[in-house]
Amino acid sequence: MCGIAGYVGQRNAVDVVLDMIKRLEYRGYDSTGIAFPVDGELRILKRAGKLSELKAVVDDENPSSHQAIVHSRWATHGAPTDLNAHPHYDHGARIALIHNGIIENYIELKEELVRHGHIFQSETDSEVAAHIVGQEYQEGVPLEEAVRRAVKKLRGAFAFVVVSVDEPDKVVCVRNASPLVIGFGKDGENMVASDITAMLPYTKQFAILENDMVAVVTPDGVKVTNLNGRPVDLETFEANYDVKSAEKGGYDHFMLKEIHEQPDVVRQCLAGRLSEKTVTLDGLFSDHVWQEIDRVNIIACGTAYHAGLMGKYLFEKMLQLPTDVHFSSEFRYGEPILSPRSLAVFISQSGETADSLAALKLCQQHRIRTLGIVNVVGSSIAREVDKVLFTQAGPEISVASTKAYVAQAIVLMLLGIHIAQKKEMPGVRTADLVQALRNFPDAVQEALDLEGQMQEIAKKFADSSLVFFLGRRADANIALEAALKLKEIAYIPTQECPAGEMKHGPLALIDQGTLAVFGATDKEIREKLVSNIKEIQARGGHVLALTGNDDDSLDKIAEDVVKLPPCDDPYLDALVSIVPLQMLAYYMAKERGCEIDQPRNLAKSVTVE
Ligand code: G6P
Repeated sequence: MCGIAGYVGQRNAVDVVLDMIKRLEYRGYDSTGIAFPVDGELRILKRAGKLSELKAVVDDENPSSHQAIVHSRWATHGAPTDLNAHPHYDHGARIALIHNGIIENYIELKEELVRHGHIFQSETDSEVAAHIVGQEYQEGVPLEEAVRRAVKKLRGAFAFVVVSVDEPDKVVCVRNASPLVIGFGKDGENMVASDITAMLPYTKQFAILENDMVAVVTPDGVKVTNLNGRPVDLETFEANYDVKSAEKGGYDHFMLKEIHEQPDVVRQCLAGRLSEKTVTLDGLFSDHVWQEIDRVNIIACGTAYHAGLMGKYLFEKMLQLPTDVHFSSEFRYGEPILSPRSLAVFISQSGETADSLAALKLCQQHRIRTLGIVNVVGSSIAREVDKVLFTQAGPEISVASTKAYVAQAIVLMLLGIHIAQKKEMPGVRTADLVQALRNFPDAVQEALDLEGQMQEIAKKFADSSLVFFLGRRADANIALEAALKLKEIAYIPTQECPAGEMKHGPLALIDQGTLAVFGATDKEIREKLVSNIKEIQARGGHVLALTGNDDDSLDKIAEDVVKLPPCDDPYLDALVSIVPLQMLAYYMAKERGCEIDQPRNLAKSVTVE
């Protein structure tokens, strides 16, 4: 999604904001632009394509300024062109604006502005916001008051940052639904950005701008008001990770780095939550609430949805707790049957996914209890839900999610054990599960040792035009996530389904040499897979099977076998298999020369519908 950054202070603001927007590249974008004052005018440079295109034109001018704003756009209204890129400028008012989100009533506002003589350059909703602010500004009020007045006319979800030629050393920003964070510098500098990753090299002190707050950022301080102009206090906090953790740390790509971080991520996720035989999750519902809960709805998008499917498998198998998993985008417009005794669980890495947020609002309207499983502290979902469990995975930069998925699945297991404890279910062997969890980081570490083998297999199949991902029960859920990874970053079409469904249609796609990846970690039904494997081989398909290293039953059956460390629990046995499958996707993408960290057409954080 769009990235926003603004800076005022002693350094060269142009260099600072370009560095900040580089750190937001992971959000996904298709054009960039910058605005800074030069000789009493705002200089605005915009380019479709990668940030390097913009940098080239900026470098030609070699500018120096103490005030600048920058934007990376992910097209929603209008194609990714130079003209549609931000900042947008209102010539009459001499202000520039950058925007993240969507202005829903922009068409009617634009018509009215055109009637009043405003001329538009782009097809965007954002340019309308610039002109609305401009119109108010021309009334002669300070920029922040113009912004406050403009916001009252706009409908939608947005955050924007505005600068005026006539008010140097000032950046004004407002938040309504789309994320915005203020960074407090030390020596006469302050800044704002879509998230803290962008600002980590410059400060560790941050405050989240809440909805309907307007902040005036100057070198000397940050003044925040509500939409009526009344001062409000911001709660500041210190970022708990340093700039290094947001950098590649020697790996070629963030994705590979994040795959390798997974043993530590699991350790971090478990930290403070395991005692000898039990799980301790602080700050959740009281005991009688857990007794009452008789159904769970898990709501999420993308990879987080796949983690939700693992949750369903676990809650139903372990707790006999009926669990449904919904895509947020379907849930929000469906007619969900929500009983007052149900719990809605929202899983989200970013905590900002627009559809998940809307689904959360719907549950709140129905007065359903809500619980978030979220990675980004201070994010919208984390703040809106009744209770939250953080995945503690650290910043995830690669658009394709890896470590956040594993952390989400681990938190779901912790939650399952917690519910078993609260519901006093003697049939659930919580002590064994706790032990299995404790050993899991080592199993993930061992799975990373499969990298060489996965690289070889990736080389062999990098030219595939279709790859199958199959399994049963928990392995079928992992198959969905593994397939998503491959299509996201290697652009290879995939077919994923429970192995038993193959003969009901997908088998027709098998051709000479088609690769079929089988998750075969489930000991109880491994035999059932053998006939599925044979069906594929009989039609010329090539089988790669992932199974426990204590199993040799597939050694003579599959063409390639990947042996995984056993984890003493079927849920974790399946989960650990995602590690080599993430590497398979990574190396296939690398063989094909793909971008990997920023796949085409995709965004890390989808903050629009
Ligand atoms: C985007 C990302 C995915 C992510 C999904 C949900 O599609 O590219 O990696 O799984 O959004 O995002 P969330 O932040 O809610 O987990």
